Amino acid sequence: MSKIKFSENFLWGVATASYQIEGAWNEDGKGESIWDRFSHIPGNVIKGDTGDVACDHYHRYEEDVKLLKELGIDTYRLSLSWPRIIPDGKGKTNNKGIDFYKRLTSLLRENGIKPAVTLYHWDLPQKLQDIGGWSNRDVAGYFQQYAQYCFKELGDYVSMWITHNEPWVVSFLGNWYGTHAPGVKDFSTALLVSHNLLLSHGKTVKAFRDSNCSGEIGITLNLTPLYSASDSNNDKEAAKRADGYYNRWFLDPVLKGRYPKDMIDWYSRKACVPEFTQTDLEIINSPVDFLGINYYSSGYVKEDKNEWPLEACNVETGRDKTDMGWEINPPGLYDLLLRVHKDYNGIKIYITENGRASNDIINRHGNVEDDDRLDYLYKHFIEAYRAQQSNVNLAGYYVWSFMDNFEWAEGYAKRFGITYVDYKTQERIIKKSGHWYKEVIRNNGF
Ligand code: FCB
Repeated sequence: MSKIKFSENFLWGVATASYQIEGAWNEDGKGESIWDRFSHIPGNVIKGDTGDVACDHYHRYEEDVKLLKELGIDTYRLSLSWPRIIPDGKGKTNNKGIDFYKRLTSLLRENGIKPAVTLYHWDLPQKLQDIGGWSNRDVAGYFQQYAQYCFKELGDYVSMWITHNEPWVVSFLGNWYGTHAPGVKDFSTALLVSHNLLLSHGKTVKAFRDSNCSGEIGITLNLTPLYSASDSNNDKEAAKRADGYYNRWFLDPVLKGRYPKDMIDWYSRKACVPEFTQTDLEIINSPVDFLGINYYSSGYVKEDKNEWPLEACNVETGRDKTDMGWEINPPGLYDLLLRVHKDYNGIKIYITENGRASNDIINRHGNVEDDDRLDYLYKHFIEAYRAQQSNVNLAGYYVWSFMDNFEWAEGYAKRFGITYVDYKTQERIIKKSGHWYKEVIRNNGF
């Protein structure tokens, strides 16, 4: 095979999120988050796991930055814990909280690593959930104020900002399926949450433009290419609806300034569609510098009248699955990137997450030989490269994850890291995929 060489200045990174790695859930003045509350309720997370300690990154960040340096990464995607910085979500700030992120981001800079900072990776201050969380429109304003404070305090160190991580997950896993915090199960609430999340995104982009910050700002969406399971019109329509639900419901307002009409019509027949104004849409459509895409899997969709509200369901294709049960489909990444490029005006893209869960073990030599993960990354990198060759403006790639961590409702049972974490001792071991990734970065290809 010929050599794969990515464009010059391509950024290679790894990603994490505050609640999944930090621990120190109630230290140094941090407020309670909805994930603290949710994980402390028995039955919500497998084995009763919580993020109370997680990877203890709050205390071990210096050691972790050394590891990042050792891996040779260009950029590290982390998220800020809003209740660590503003314990009640609004009002009084917590110096010890913001100081932690100052120390972390400045240390990354000293080590030549660009911090890419997500403002919201799901750990809403519980105090704001008490007034309705994201279903309360005021929370969009509080988010903007929190973001402005972060721009002011961290703007010197941070060159890339991401407003939200996966608003689809926040809306629908958190407020429709109820499998994520805050555990609400109401479709109309989920739709309202999605709108307020997008509004808070737009408000924050505007605030960023009005600040003195240099650098870029964008949003991260979890996107899934959805194919029709057959040639029948009903299945094709079902696949289009699923695409509307997962992808276009977020892409279109952010990048085109409108909600997809087919979905507004469909939802209006099933639930309460949030009221919104033209001004809301203009705010949501504030120009971004890039789109972050998290890619894990694809879907094959057929009509299923019993599935409310979409009347669509996923069918298995027999492809190999990861430990999460997600089908592995690397060419889906290529299809997705080309489609976004074509439908959304050649927007600059970062892959902000991609990776797999595997049942990793430490072998008798003390190594973790995760060939399945290496293979997964290898195949997805090739598709990203092919997309670049087809003129997609792909500027960087963040592997999920830097290290094993708290995988939300799945707890610690699912390992996604290119670094292994022994939760008993907090020892970190770079896995085979991590050593391989280091070489990929060094050569800007393979
Ligand atoms: C994404 C999340 C991330 C992690 C991966 C596996 O949906 O953004 O925090 O859980 O999935």
